[in-house]
Amino acid sequence: MRAISVRRATEQDFDAILRLWREAMALHQEIEPAVWTTVADADDLARGHFGECLAKDDHRLLVAEEEKEVVGYLLASKSKRPPVLSPKVQGTIHEVCVTSSARRRGVGGLLVAEAMGWFQSGGLTLATASFAADNPASVAFWKAQGFRPYLFTGMRSIGADTAQTQPTGKRWYEEFFDEDYIRFHLGGAAWLAERTTGECDFVVQALGLKEGDRVLDLCCGQARHSAELARRGLDVTGVDLSEYLLGLARKTAEEAQVKVRFERCDMRELPWNGEFDAAINIFTSFGYLEADEEDEKALRAVHTALRPGGRVLLDLPTLSHFQKIHPGRKRDWSEHEGRLVVDEFTWDMHRSRLRLERAIVEPDGVRRRKRFDLRIYTTRRLRPCCVEVASSGSAHLAALICLILARTRGGC
Ligand SMILES: C[S@@+](CC[C@H](N)C(=O)[O-])C[C@H]1O[C@@H](n2cnc3c(N)ncnc32)[C@H](O)[C@@H]1O
Repeated sequence: MRAISVRRATEQDFDAILRLWREAMALHQEIEPAVWTTVADADDLARGHFGECLAKDDHRLLVAEEEKEVVGYLLASKSKRPPVLSPKVQGTIHEVCVTSSARRRGVGGLLVAEAMGWFQSGGLTLATASFAADNPASVAFWKAQGFRPYLFTGMRSIGADTAQTQPTGKRWYEEFFDEDYIRFHLGGAAWLAERTTGECDFVVQALGLKEGDRVLDLCCGQARHSAELARRGLDVTGVDLSEYLLGLARKTAEEAQVKVRFERCDMRELPWNGEFDAAINIFTSFGYLEADEEDEKALRAVHTALRPGGRVLLDLPTLSHFQKIHPGRKRDWSEHEGRLVVDEFTWDMHRSRLRLERAIVEPDGVRRRKRFDLRIYTTRRLRPCCVEVASSGSAHLAALICLILARTRGGC
């Protein structure tokens, strides 16, 4: 291993420090965009801030070097505590960043040790650092440095509409999946058939399914996968909330002359325990519920429905995919058999949700409105429950990420 040394930073290090800072910000933004969104002139401001810190005696900016290249930095300070508390001064480590290629080699530990030495030589007896509760790697790093969580920072967006309730009193996902969904969201029969075959090929291969395996098609819609998987010899149960789509599902299975059990059920309230070899959730059918806790309930219900060792495949789009398509607000309109469809997409950064407000105007002028409201998860957020993150590699799969979760003896 090449030698790593730690020293105080100078102005000549600022370009390298800024590069590392940007790397760290990108990581934070992926985990919690509502908190870590930066302003347009963030780089200049950060550079100015590092300059100010360098000039202050009660601040310390350190860099870690490997063969003259800066691979990490740390910013620490000493500050007064409220007058009623003792000790009167504490050390705070504000930032530690190590470039991705130099991680897991003790660079962060060396930087922290140097900062702790600086605190100790000044007679300090207390040091604090803040770390992201949602980032298991960060929590593990700080624990390894002897820091334990002692304050919990709560966070919520202000003014967010968390109820998602429609004027009818129903949730958007209880109303969205009807004739209009079939009309406007899916291509023609040939498009669907080709896509469904490709998706099922991937599902069978990724989950290692064999004839006779019991599969739960969670949010089965009109059963395009349920029927195709049953045709391939799998024992399929389809679950969905939409009565309308379940009606189509029964027809699909009948026409394909295959046996599939269908149940109308909310994904949080699956009635099975230890029954399925695998579960699938395809075509962006996860992230609809009103809060992350509700999504967790759904994941727990699927977990319980699987037999030990059973796996679930979630087919989800990524945040960066949607940020590319909908960088802010986007309006779109199209015509379908005389109907005018006007779509407005909004990216709610604070809640990591993509919203679609849709107005449909019938040829006779009658209008109706629909809403779609999707929580976009990052792989990092879901990673703790996953055994594998597979790239579909299939042009047919909507998925840009496929998460495979497994039922283990413990919880999900
Ligand atoms: C985008 S569609 C996908 C359907 C199907 N998997 C496909 O690929 O064609 C999403 C499906 O999730 C169903 N759904 C929405 N919320 C649900 C919930 N809470 N519980 C069960 N199903 C739900 C909808 O009715 C709809 O059929």
